Amino acid sequence: MKRPESYQFQTKLDARGDLSFLEELKDVPFEIKRIYWITGIPEQQVRGGHAHKTDEQVIICLKGQAQVILDNKEGEVFECKLDSANQGLYIPPMWWGKMVFSHEALLLGLSSEEFSEQDYIRKRDEF
Ligand code: TYD
Repeated sequence: MKRPESYQFQTKLDARGDLSFLEELKDVPFEIKRIYWITGIPEQQVRGGHAHKTDEQVIICLKGQAQVILDNKEGEVFECKLDSANQGLYIPPMWWGKMVFSHEALLLGLSSEEFSEQDYIRKRDEF
């Protein structure tokens, strides 16, 4: 079973700002088929509460903070705080994810699959 992993992306720092970057199949372990982002997040907002059957993702908290808790069917738990724009979290298939965000956090998600509701497991007892 693939395991969650925290990534540190390369960043070019100078007086004009911090430029971070990633490339598919080099810095993330899949071809990126889909990108999504979440804005307007209220303080302490909880999102997630599902797993994916095949979709692999990398999430990046571009602004603010996200506390992420992942667990799998074997009862293994992976917990991680995303609070830097050059940090990413790899979420493999079949890991249940829950995220708690800070006010106005900005989340960017990279996905290995096109969107499909059929790929979601949303009921914990079906996990
Ligand atoms: P969902 O993945 O459940 O959000 P979260 O895990 O952050 O709570 O997605 C919320 C809604 O948006 C749901 O109806 C599916 C839809 N959606 C898309 O249509 N395309 C996408 O790429 C994503 C990520 C979600």
